[in-house]
Amino acid sequence: MSPALRDKYSRPMRDLRISVTDRCNYRCAYCMPLDEYEWIDRQEILTFEEIERLARIFIALGIEKIRLTGGEPLLRRDLARLVANLAPLEGLLDLCLTTNGSLLAENAEALRAAGLMRINVSLDTLDPQKFKRISKRGDLSKVLDGLFRAQSLGFDPIKINAVIERGVNDDEVLDLVEFGRINRFAARFIEYMDVGNSNHWHSSKMVPKQEIIGVINSRFPLVERGREHGSAPSLDYLFADGIRAAGVDVGVIASVTEPFCGSCTRVRLTADGKLVTCLFSNSGFDLKALLRGGASDKEITAAVESVWRARTDRYSDERLEALESAKGYDPEAHRKIEMISLGG
Ligand SMILES: C[S@@+](CC[C@H](N)C(=O)[O-])C[C@H]1O[C@@H](n2cnc3c(N)ncnc32)[C@H](O)[C@@H]1O
Ligand code: SF4
Repeated sequence: MSPALRDKYSRPMRDLRISVTDRCNYRCAYCMPLDEYEWIDRQEILTFEEIERLARIFIALGIEKIRLTGGEPLLRRDLARLVANLAPLEGLLDLCLTTNGSLLAENAEALRAAGLMRINVSLDTLDPQKFKRISKRGDLSKVLDGLFRAQSLGFDPIKINAVIERGVNDDEVLDLVEFGRINRFAARFIEYMDVGNSNHWHSSKMVPKQEIIGVINSRFPLVERGREHGSAPSLDYLFADGIRAAGVDVGVIASVTEPFCGSCTRVRLTADGKLVTCLFSNSGFDLKALLRGGASDKEITAAVESVWRARTDRYSDERLEALESAKGYDPEAHRKIEMISLGG
């Protein structure tokens, strides 16, 4: 790897999130509130071979962890084949999947056999009706089947990710923690963010980390454990009574109220091969054009290096500065790539 690869704030590039599809079978109100989107043309979606080639190049540049995401990654046919080819890559320490869980029960065995190391499953509510309301098309029982199937195959830890939205599921924080505690899943809460352009985000809809932790502490006292590693987005906690749900019992991703741009080592690859250096970017660098234009590995490496070296993103820091300023923060003033294309 190239030890000198640092961005303008001296941040190294360590984690790669690959969106394998922009399609999704849900329409979560906070992520994809519209019924229809302009989907990426199928020919423009990177093939598994193209993803693997890029993965090797990124690993040589310092990437240690890859997360497969989307859209809904399990909608991509034969995803286990991609996992099987990525898992053995030398230098890759962690290969994870973030999924809505709807198709996990039938895919978990093949993913496990292919070498997938960890799974995060999105689960915002334990109430079947509310689940349908939030996801518009989802069926809670399928997600629960997927979770337990994955657990029975030995995936550990499994994290359940909940986006907490005021007036929607903020009354379920304790239920989700208890569900994790009883069934040995790590419950992770994500502050509602202004991703994409259509969720009409307002800070009043966001439940801050302090409030979430306060609610949990009132029933299940917690001990703060810090971050898994310096650049991890989640601040982790253990139950003070020593009951272990998973390696980590509770986590909160507080990108709005306690942004972690200063230690952000994440880079994203969109389903159509754009390299994006921040979740809130409005454009990306077209690596597919290089791949399909016959560029050598050396040329692609040089392009990635120059994009990373020029990186100055600190969007969440700037949002907090604006939120705390007299002028306030206007999420619509800044156009962003939709989260489904760039891989949440
Ligand atoms: C975009 S999804 C893609 C993977 C998969 N479809 C899933 O739902 O897990 C990745 C993660 O982003 C989170 N997410 C989506 N929109 C968000 C928002 N507005 N604020 C915070 N997290 C969000 C989801 O809850 C999910 O955990
Ligand atoms: S959060 Fe995941 S499941 Fe929900 S709409 Fe977005 S991509 Fe689909």
